[in-house]
Amino acid sequence: MPPARLRLNDGHMIPQLGLGIWQVPAGSTRDTVASALQMGYRLVDGAAIYGNEAGQGEGVRASGLPRDDVFVTTKVWNDDQGYDATLRAVEASLKRLEMESLELCLIHWPTPSRNLYVDTWRALIRLREDGRVRSIGVSNFMGDHLERIIGETGTVPVLNQIEVNPRLQQAELRDLHDRLGIVTQSWTPLGQGRSFDAAPVRAAAARTGKTAAQVILRWHVQLGVAVIPRSSRTAGLAENLDILDFALTAEEMIAFAALEEGSRCGPDPMRFG
Ligand SMILES: NC(=O)c1ccc[n+]([C@@H]2O[C@H](COP(=O)([O-])OP(=O)(O)OC[C@H]3O[C@@H](n4cnc5c(N)ncnc54)[C@H](OP(=O)(O)O)[C@@H]3O)[C@@H](O)[C@H]2O)c1
Repeated sequence: MPPARLRLNDGHMIPQLGLGIWQVPAGSTRDTVASALQMGYRLVDGAAIYGNEAGQGEGVRASGLPRDDVFVTTKVWNDDQGYDATLRAVEASLKRLEMESLELCLIHWPTPSRNLYVDTWRALIRLREDGRVRSIGVSNFMGDHLERIIGETGTVPVLNQIEVNPRLQQAELRDLHDRLGIVTQSWTPLGQGRSFDAAPVRAAAARTGKTAAQVILRWHVQLGVAVIPRSSRTAGLAENLDILDFALTAEEMIAFAALEEGSRCGPDPMRFG
């Protein structure tokens, strides 16, 4: 069964489950991406800073799938913020990917201390108008950053990719996204395994015959968010895709909610960069 798709506020669709390729070595990215796509993934989440865009593009071509069947994301790194620098950075990403256009480009971090994210956003709007990028969004934006780019440009990002896992559930920001029509996409969705041994996770895994990782990914899907787990193992890729044939109960979802502790695996977006 292919992953479900969510509707973006610009009318395009995004696969709810995709592959993340942070820390996938450049030398093995092509094969990881190709094998994930061949087993059923349809979205590959990359970024200029991951240093593996060439492999990302090669993997899409090596999969044998029509280009239109694959959703490709990249991100503008912090050093490339600003209007002209962003135009150049996205052209460089497209060149490394060897693609004419891509489905989604995100501002990787707001880096508020630089105060360039509005100009960066204006550049992404231009790239969308020019057909280089089909949809545009952000990553690691807090409510204030979202409200500022929307207020100053009138353009609402289609998506905000943020850290979400059972220990950092981001209920408030997800609620704001819902009100603004922005899809939430969860990064580090497995939360470095910190809740694999938690009682509600173990209980749901035991009831369903699934692994801890699978019930956590299923929790993301049932929250209605998009999710991009990474695995360098073929078995891990297959395991993370195999989450569509079962459901967590309402009681299990409530028990997962109690795992919230507000602790991040990654940096604080207000300070990073
Ligand atoms: N926008 C941002 O700032 C940002 C930040 C971080 C990440 N991201 C994106 O989000 C993606 C996912 O985040 P992530 O890579 O940090 O973490 P993740 O997907 O939550 O976890 C990856 C780790 O979990 C292990 N793993 C994967 N599947 C597993 C399974 N079924 N059972 C047990 N362990 C499993 C992997 O090891 P194995 O490889 O051995 O399976 C790897 O060590 C990234 O690849 C990237 O695309 C974005």
